[in-house]
Amino acid sequence: MNGSRRSNIRLVQDLVKALRSAETDVYANGNAPQIVICPPFVYLTEVADTLRANSAPGLVLGAQTLSEFDEGAFTGEVSAFMLVDLGCEYVLVGHSERRTVLGETNAQVAEKYHAALAASLVPVLCVGETRQQRDDGTTFAVIEEQLDAVVAKVGFDKLSSAVVAYEPIWAIGTGNTATAEQAQKVHAHIRKCLSKAGDNTRLLYGGSVNANNTAELMAQADIDGILVGGASLDAEQFAAICRHAVAAENVLQR
Ligand code: PGA
Repeated sequence: MNGSRRSNIRLVQDLVKALRSAETDVYANGNAPQIVICPPFVYLTEVADTLRANSAPGLVLGAQTLSEFDEGAFTGEVSAFMLVDLGCEYVLVGHSERRTVLGETNAQVAEKYHAALAASLVPVLCVGETRQQRDDGTTFAVIEEQLDAVVAKVGFDKLSSAVVAYEPIWAIGTGNTATAEQAQKVHAHIRKCLSKAGDNTRLLYGGSVNANNTAELMAQADIDGILVGGASLDAEQFAAICRHAVAAENVLQR
């Protein structure tokens, strides 16, 4: 819940410029990283227009959440169809703030995941544990429950191209990033839990990602991408993060 009409347009314009600038040129090796911009609902149309006018390869639109219902008397809610209508290709589902602050349950997150798929949006399923759960040694169990609810609703075949973001709640917005080793351990576990879905799943890490820790996180075998909150509000820093992410992927591919 950041920004204004004016600041968001500026941010996208600056980002496109920074992505193409000599220092951060993420396209240097013919790469077009997939970058999804997820502004608040009310700014989706303007951000979509700004992206069209300042296009950069691989830059697409996503939303931060959606309703589990298709349409009807659900005042204040926004459906998957509406998001597609506005040009979204992706949507975050079950972000920890939706779960912990706004009370979304695992079952509701699974319904939202299903609604997104039904509208051909790519849901980015966010999972992660609290500090207490980590200290209690229940990280894997918590994440398994979060994944199982979605598997029970849509089945493994529908998860064949799933995008899952591991975001330890204690790392979000706190400056306490998980170490690359901590993140890799959980990612490897998520990969194992989703093995029946095939090998096209993409696993993102989120939680205090910045330009200084991206390369190390992205160098981990099971980290395919990142989900950036606070650092994405600064175009230069976000472009630098994208450059580090692309460079790390290139190394892994070689
Ligand atoms: P952060 O946020 O990068 O500011 O920690 C991550 C998120 O909100 O998903």
